[in-house]
Amino acid sequence: MEIYLDNSNIDLIKENISWCPITGVTTNPSIIAKENKVNLFEHLLEIKNILSNTKKLHVQVISEDYDSIVKEANKIQAILGNDIYIKIPATKDGIRAINFLSTHGFNITATAIYTTMQGVLSALSGAKYIAIYYNRIENNNGSANEIIYDLAKLPQIINNETKILAASFKNTNQVVSAFANGAQACTVSDEILKSFINNILVEKTIIDFKNDWEKIYGNKNILDF
Ligand code: E4P
Repeated sequence: MEIYLDNSNIDLIKENISWCPITGVTTNPSIIAKENKVNLFEHLLEIKNILSNTKKLHVQVISEDYDSIVKEANKIQAILGNDIYIKIPATKDGIRAINFLSTHGFNITATAIYTTMQGVLSALSGAKYIAIYYNRIENNNGSANEIIYDLAKLPQIINNETKILAASFKNTNQVVSAFANGAQACTVSDEILKSFINNILVEKTIIDFKNDWEKIYGNKNILDF
């Protein structure tokens, strides 16, 4: 089971990896564009450095045609290293590029997946992850849960050759459903990550413990005994 942060802000990445057992960071062109025209590779190298060798970084190509996707993938890998995950939209050109790059040792995350068959083709083409756009599917009157459930039965997924990376979430329940239906990984915004633990019931429980304790022991803690 893996949780990713879907964000490219340096401060938020540092803060979240300090407390949360995230597997890594996912970005896309819209996420990078929010960082106000940063120098792309300087920024990505800084993220890579923060994540060190222990966490994964997924970076998306910008071009849409096969030749340019392959060239961009080569440049991304040459600068960011062999352990980078290159996100490629599962279009016709994208699937062709996923096939070619996967057979040449690149780690590929197929993205912009709205249908079961996009997922099937991406997995068959050798993608290591397939990013299913949960909330966008639901907004389009589809069932993200059914798509994830069906894809989770593919031999490639069962054998862990390809992982379902559910994405595009708008609330915690969607993340829980994605995992329950067979996603091995979910990528979430900073807000959703924090919502996993920012809960009024948890806060009240902590206050109740503190009040009960202080009635008897004042402000002593474990170290005072
Ligand atoms: C991640 O891989 C996706 O690019 C991302 O989760 C899309 O999220 P959005 O639908 O909120 O833009």
